[in-house]
Amino acid sequence: MTDRKLIDLATEVMENSYSPYSRFKVGAVVECSDGSIFMGCNIENAAFGATMCAEAAAIASAVSAGKRSFKRMAITSEGSVYCFPCGSCRQLLSEFSPDIEVLCARADGRYVSYSLSALLPMAFNKEQMGNT
Ligand code: THU
Repeated sequence: MTDRKLIDLATEVMENSYSPYSRFKVGAVVECSDGSIFMGCNIENAAFGATMCAEAAAIASAVSAGKRSFKRMAITSEGSVYCFPCGSCRQLLSEFSPDIEVLCARADGRYVSYSLSALLPMAFNKEQMGNT
């Protein structure tokens, strides 16, 4: 699948965003190593801390389907700047695929691409726990 197609899917799922508080819609699509695709949008809550990011929703959907190895993620927002994954979502992705390619697209369709290892250098991981 092309980068553009993955971004188009993220733009599609972004429309389902439930974001009445921030009014900031985000869509995320994760492509698994076997080529399967899972999507998520941000889901806000009146108790703000219970809000779920689009990336977390996509990862939750993929892991729930038994997928644990990811190749690429596309993230779109309505903004005129790139929406980079928040720190918590970087950590969530890192658990499964520390080198996943992350595409961040703006509303005008332009996008930038980074390896997660560049976005989250020296990540904390299970090896450091020494008991896994
Ligand atoms: N948001 C995401 O969905 N992903 C990110 O990486 C950054 C923030 C959402 C959460 C909230 O609904 C809104 O954007 C504003 O923070």
